[in-house]
Amino acid sequence: MANKTKPVISASALSRLMNAAAQARERAVAPYSKFKVGAAFLTRKGEIITGANVESASYGLTCCAERVALFTALTAGKRDFTAVAVVARAADGPMPCGACRQLLAEYASDAKVYVADCRRLKAVKEFSVGELLPGAFLDFRPG
Ligand code: THU
Repeated sequence: MANKTKPVISASALSRLMNAAAQARERAVAPYSKFKVGAAFLTRKGEIITGANVESASYGLTCCAERVALFTALTAGKRDFTAVAVVARAADGPMPCGACRQLLAEYASDAKVYVADCRRLKAVKEFSVGELLPGAFLDFRPG
């Protein structure tokens, strides 16, 4: 459902964002799964912050592209995200994992999430964060 109170991302901004995620994907460090994922966050000011997944021999230490990008953005002082792109070589686009959905709910709840196969960047699926994680755990958040 369209959200009329928030600005909708333009076609050119979406294309820029999907391409940024696809470029970031090239820098994924995924020697174990070989599944490269790229993510890009768009701020209300039009800035784009990217990241890619990084894996470890101790598999549980692996960090998803979404979280690498989000942590990079947050620690650079960026807030107020309007859109997030996630790209991988995956027929229906890579759906964010549960851990990333939780962080999106905490730090990018107003953002639209766009996923696409890196071979078909124009075939984008759009989700709200609320759709991806209904009833998110948001207790203990300061003001
Ligand atoms: N991965 C992501 O980067 N984002 C997702 O949304 C799902 C999974 C990564 C983690 C791991 O490096 C690889 O994909 C296989 O699970």
